[in-house]
Amino acid sequence: MTSELLEKARKYEESCLEYIDDKDRPAYHLTGGVGWINDPNGFSLYKGEYHLFFQYHPYSIKWGPMHWGHVKTEDFVRWERLPIAMAPDSPFDGKGCFSGSAVEMPDGRQMLMYTGVTEVASGANINLQIQQQCVAFGDGTEYTKYEGNPVITSDDLPSDGMVTDFRDPKVWKEGDTYYCAVSNNSSEDSGVILLYESRDGIHWKYVTVLEANRGQYGRMWECPDFFELDGKHVLIVSPMKMRPAGLEFHAGYGTIALIGGYDPETHKFIRENVQSVDYGIDFYAAQTLEAKDGRRIMIAWMQNWTTIQCEFEDHFYFGQMTLPRELWIENGRMYQRPVRELENYRSAGTVYRNIFVHEEMSLPQVRGRCLDMTVRVKPVSGKKYSWFRINFADDGEYYTSIIYDASSNHVRLDRSRCGFPYDIVNVREFPVSCCDGEIELRILLDRYSVELFVNGGEQAATMLVYTDPSADSVTFAADSEVLIDIEKFDLEFEWMK
Ligand code: FRU
Repeated sequence: MTSELLEKARKYEESCLEYIDDKDRPAYHLTGGVGWINDPNGFSLYKGEYHLFFQYHPYSIKWGPMHWGHVKTEDFVRWERLPIAMAPDSPFDGKGCFSGSAVEMPDGRQMLMYTGVTEVASGANINLQIQQQCVAFGDGTEYTKYEGNPVITSDDLPSDGMVTDFRDPKVWKEGDTYYCAVSNNSSEDSGVILLYESRDGIHWKYVTVLEANRGQYGRMWECPDFFELDGKHVLIVSPMKMRPAGLEFHAGYGTIALIGGYDPETHKFIRENVQSVDYGIDFYAAQTLEAKDGRRIMIAWMQNWTTIQCEFEDHFYFGQMTLPRELWIENGRMYQRPVRELENYRSAGTVYRNIFVHEEMSLPQVRGRCLDMTVRVKPVSGKKYSWFRINFADDGEYYTSIIYDASSNHVRLDRSRCGFPYDIVNVREFPVSCCDGEIELRILLDRYSVELFVNGGEQAATMLVYTDPSADSVTFAADSEVLIDIEKFDLEFEWMK
């Protein structure tokens, strides 16, 4: 039965959708129907369709009591809105249905696993938050919360685990057994990822610490995901309060991939390599699924907790998802590229080969704000250059830049001149591995964002772009002559016509 709170949220969303024009949204980056969204949740295959849920507060563009919004897709680009799946309407989740995941069960039901948040009084005027893991079962539209929730409680924590920071279960199935990885904070304020197992999704047993931060990468680790990829195991987590380390890890909220082995006997992860997943500003709480054809696909919240006060003017929504990305391992690193399904939305294509660039210049066919553009830069034979720059979302006054510094082998994404009226972090710089001044930059532009993929997906960097979508010019420049090849496709979506 639908609770009053869920009914109210659904009706509210529906009434807003009546007057919201999809043309006022990003063209191909998902937003909530209305209001606030954060983490992707329950990104999974169910009965042949890809479902995505998300942290949702429809009533305002600020974070609030967490509901689970719901959409599904066949191609990761066109999303169909479904009724809100859960509201914080039960004794075990009255303060919020926090992040979690989903899995299809052998009996055809879909199980949602999430963090139920409650509060208990703890001294004068202080409430202590309790976070425990809950489940709900449904048919892809309607979900019933298990009345015996929570299914993983504070009693299932290791002795120094904090019940105030125990959240974001990521569930998967291996043979007859369900596993789930859950974020926890130790009393030393250092993240650990705990592993649990179950035969039925309801009775869970603590297995072990899958991996621990050991005070190295930020403090608490949020939103774990754990999967096999090309013979390696990958643990993705989003650390809070990271300190910078070279140009690999930036300060604040980040998302990192720990790549290594896994011992199925002891259930221990064996760490070999750690990297940033995305070097931009707006990327957090990534979650993956295995697609029907075996691809590992990742989606993330295209936002950052540090800048949530920086709202776009006049938007009825806050928060977007990245375009889903395909993942693979190459030379011990996790690579990523936009889902290939995006190519079905390419329209007019323009190809330029061997264009000389030096003084700032534009090309007649190269402009727009919904683009999939690949630029390959190479030096003119025998000549060295120091930097190459692309300015986009440019209206003559405001613009955003991608700069390749060939002398240091760094790429810089810089939106400090995009016209945004907040003094916040606007620049990110990261190392790339280029040889002899050659670099490939694949740039996905949408009306309010850029996603950059360098050298076939070795690095990715994502940023919101706050310039009015009418700013659509693209220019190229270098400190001395370079040669570029360009393949540019306009992206067209029938819902934007
Ligand atoms: C990460 C996060 C999760 C939590 C959710 C609450 O962005 O803090 O750890 O479950 O957001 O909305």
